[in-house]
Amino acid sequence: MKIAPSILSADFANLAHDVEVVENAGVEYLHIDIMDGHFVSNLTFGANVVKALRSHSNLVFDCHMMVEDPEKYVADFAQAGADIMGVHAEATPHLHSVLSLIKSAGMKAEVVINPGTPVSMISEVLPMVDQVLVMTVDPGMGGQKFLAETMTKVKQLADAKKKNNLNYDIEVDGGLNDQTVKQALAAGANVIVAGSYIFGADVPADSITALRKGSET
Ligand code: DX5
Ligand code: ZN
Repeated sequence: MKIAPSILSADFANLAHDVEVVENAGVEYLHIDIMDGHFVSNLTFGANVVKALRSHSNLVFDCHMMVEDPEKYVADFAQAGADIMGVHAEATPHLHSVLSLIKSAGMKAEVVINPGTPVSMISEVLPMVDQVLVMTVDPGMGGQKFLAETMTKVKQLADAKKKNNLNYDIEVDGGLNDQTVKQALAAGANVIVAGSYIFGADVPADSITALRKGSET
């Protein structure tokens, strides 16, 4: 499993420090939530923050684009040092085109679906993506409750991957903690995003250890 702390719950005035804490704790990814105030009502960071963090970290930067018109951001994020760029299927009628653009810009391409969006909506692009993100809460803010019913879609994606010999990782995002991680891993997810559970803890490294233990039980 790979752990992707979401900096949405980090201290925005001390981002470099908080990133260092999770990097030292041995996580694989850094999950960066980009919100444009349109696709979701909150507003977070742009490519300039990704670029600023790049010089402080060697983690894989996993950028979750909660934005309208994601194609507009591809070149800037590639240049800023993003490694994975995830676009919501609900955010563009040009899904295939944006995913192709992301790959040609040298990044890994990810497709994301909201809790209300079926797997059938992305079946045509599954052969071209490196990662699929199944939202386990409605996007827009941290600290929400894990929606267990989304596990059906994680299972469907794990089955489709096996059946069709595909290569994507399956990521889950929202409400993950030491308990819900077990359901996600059992359903077939292998990339675990956690924001408030990690950065809201007194000792973030302890939360990371507890998430990893979820794969042993
Ligand atoms: C929600 C974001 C998540 C968020 C998760 O829209 O995509 O990445 O930070 O937060 P927690 O882990 O607190 O549910
Ligand atoms: Zn996210």
